[in-house]
Amino acid sequence: MQTVPLPRPEVIGRLRAAGCVFAEEEAALLVAAAATAAELEALVRRRVSGLPLEHVLGWAEFCGLRIEVDPAVFVPRRRTEYLVRRAVRLLQARGSGGMPVVVDLCCGSGAVGAALAAVAGPLELHAADVDPAAAACARRNLHPLGAEVHEGDLYDPLPERLRGRVDILAVNAPYVPSGMIGTMPPEARLHEPRVSLDGGPDGLELQRRVAAAASEWLAPGGHLLIETSRRQAPQTLGIFAGSGLSGRVVSSRRLDATVVLGRVQAGVAARTPR
Ligand SMILES: C[S@@+](CC[C@H](N)C(=O)[O-])C[C@H]1O[C@@H](n2cnc3c(N)ncnc32)[C@H](O)[C@@H]1O
Repeated sequence: MQTVPLPRPEVIGRLRAAGCVFAEEEAALLVAAAATAAELEALVRRRVSGLPLEHVLGWAEFCGLRIEVDPAVFVPRRRTEYLVRRAVRLLQARGSGGMPVVVDLCCGSGAVGAALAAVAGPLELHAADVDPAAAACARRNLHPLGAEVHEGDLYDPLPERLRGRVDILAVNAPYVPSGMIGTMPPEARLHEPRVSLDGGPDGLELQRRVAAAASEWLAPGGHLLIETSRRQAPQTLGIFAGSGLSGRVVSSRRLDATVVLGRVQAGVAARTPR
């Protein structure tokens, strides 16, 4: 078997010419992933053709973990680590009261759930996604952690026994307005499925549907956390209020991340199950 040379100026140059900003770091990762020179060449070609680095490697780093990411599955973003951090804080503040029930809704690869289990486990962890490719990928990341992965539209595939029992509902649903998708970087707009990006005309359609049914699923004192953008945060907060949830906006400048946290307002009864 041929040995793979160290990142060569040629590989770095090809990545740089293709517009990869972190060409040296990427070259090192591609070299580490290749067992032979031929494999390295294939990896470099895929990357230079515009495939996201994570799809070329088959994994993304998230909260210090390696999360498997299949082609055509949303690549977890660094900013979403903030959603995890806020959920961990709430889980830690909860103290001891039995194993917490956590749902990673719109889970994609399952990165959020995997990170929560790693940092704040043990948990009763469930994840769900409408996209069969995402659900299959999440199963590979989450089944080894003892989690259940469900496939279907938002809450539809969740087991009935979770109604009124969810302590943490962590959601990174699509929130890009449909008309803005064309302005996204090609790696996202060409290689991530539209269902993972498109939040409807104002980007908030999924958030509205998530918030509207959240009180049916949250345990007393349970929390809904939704990632949003700084620009959309006031509207997301309004959606929480309109769904009987008290909310507040928290953000991280360093990660360019914004999350709205909410819980069922005192005096607002959970809706009757359908
Ligand atoms: C922005 S991606 C986030 C994925 C993951 N939570 C993360 O942060 O890496 C949004 C995910 O929501 C899923 N999704 C979109 N519409 C959905 C729906 N109606 N029900 C469940 N999942 C949905 C997409 O398939 C996609 O995997």
